[in-house]
This record gives sequence, structure tokens and C-alpha cells, in this order.
Amino acid sequence: MLGIIGGTGLTKLTNLEIAHRQVVRTPYGEPSGALTFGRLCGTEVIFLARHGYGHTIPPHEVNYRANLWALKEYGVDRIVSVATVGGISPEFPAGSLAVPDQLIDYTWGRAHTFTVSGEKPVTHLDFTEPYCGAMRRDILRAASQRDVAIRDGGVYAVSQGPRLETAAEINRFERDGCDMVGMTGMPEAYLARELDICYAAIGVVVNDAAGRGASKTGIREEDIQRVLNDLMSRVRSVLEELVALSHPESCPA
Ligand code: HPA
Repeated sequence: MLGIIGGTGLTKLTNLEIAHRQVVRTPYGEPSGALTFGRLCGTEVIFLARHGYGHTIPPHEVNYRANLWALKEYGVDRIVSVATVGGISPEFPAGSLAVPDQLIDYTWGRAHTFTVSGEKPVTHLDFTEPYCGAMRRDILRAASQRDVAIRDGGVYAVSQGPRLETAAEINRFERDGCDMVGMTGMPEAYLARELDICYAAIGVVVNDAAGRGASKTGIREEDIQRVLNDLMSRVRSVLEELVALSHPESCPA
């Protein structure tokens, strides 16, 4: 089953027919909120708002382990994660969408693995390609079917937050090869890998990163809000089509 993790601007899916909500407890504590079971174009999906339904959980306090564990427990084997980001390179301007193919993890102090000492012999999971290729391709195909422009690839810098970056930090990320910056890409992507869930993300570029373009002298919340609504309506359309791809009869475009 497909799981959708919504970030800033996507705390609910307006096109989701909600069947029920389920409060879940996991060995890692509580997820960001109840799992929302519903139908998108007649197909069952589970939605979870990463920052809580009232958007009250900051990126460094999200219980990523509980979120992923809960989704897996209820049958999710594929996840599309929606994450707002700032655009670093000129190919990722505010108002655009991207499907990253790589990431660099700059976060610290987050519970980043299900692996604990003493349980089983230590293994080191491959993470050369942090995103699931099949899921990435499905997202790109869905976007193309709906005529939604979306960039294929890009390196996602995952910063700690909750503050935005300094201009010098963005320069460093660029030197490292990053194209976009957000705060929630990790450990989410890796935890999905540990649970053998096919996971990919849609990067929603809501602002130029600090010191770049329109953010030369600062990042203004009003500017972010201005692009957010329009971007999220495109994201909703891509998600609908993503479901339609696996169940074409249920969701005429
Ligand atoms: N930096 C980090 N995270 C973000 C940004 C940004 O500029 N925009 C949206 N999420």
C-alpha cells in the first residue's frame, strides 16, 4: 500500500476520502499524529502529516522512527514523501518541483536508526542510492501525465533546523554539490530503507535558499506562502496520478 507523508503546506489531502483515523503506538513512541486511512481515486492509501495535523512538531523533534514503523505496521510498502525545500542552484528556483536522487545528511542528534547493539550481528545497509528508483520513476511519470513540470534529480542537503541557514552555510552546501536544502529528508529516507520500504521524495521549492536570488538579503515568510498554495495543488495532482498509475481504472484524469 502507498503511504504519503505530507510536510509543510500538506497537513491534509483535500482530495482524500477519509475512511478513518487510527492512533498508533509503536516501540519507539507515538507518530506525529493518527494515521489517516482513506481513498485517493478509490484506492486505499495512508496519509501522515509529518509535523502533526496542527503543524506543531519542528523538524528536529519529529519522531521519524515511530512514523515509519507505524506506516510499515499498517501495510505500507511504498512511500512518497512531500518536503518543502529552499533552492540552492539556479535550476531549482522558488516555485519549482524536484525529485531528488541524492542527499547529504547534515543533521545531528536525531534517532536515526532502528539498529541497536546486542540484538543481531551488525550489518551495514547499502545506501548508495538513497531513494527508490521505481518510486522516483512513478512520480516523474505521474507528473508528466498531468503536465506538471518537475525536475528529475538533484542533491538534497538535509539541515538540522529549525532555523534557516546562513548564506555561508548555503555556499558550503553548494560547494558540496547540493541543489536544494530542507530539514526533514533524514533520517526519514534511511529509516524507510531499514524497513525495506520503497521511498522517494518530492522536493517542493518554496524559496530561494539564504543569500540566493530573491533571498539575497533574507527569506520572507510571505514569499513562501505565496508560492506554497499553487505548488501544493500541483503536488496533489501528481499524487492522484501516482495512484492512478497503479489502478488506472479508478482515477480518470
Ligand atoms: N532551508 C531549509 N529548509 C527549508 C527551506 C530552506 O531554505 N525552505 C523550506 N524548507
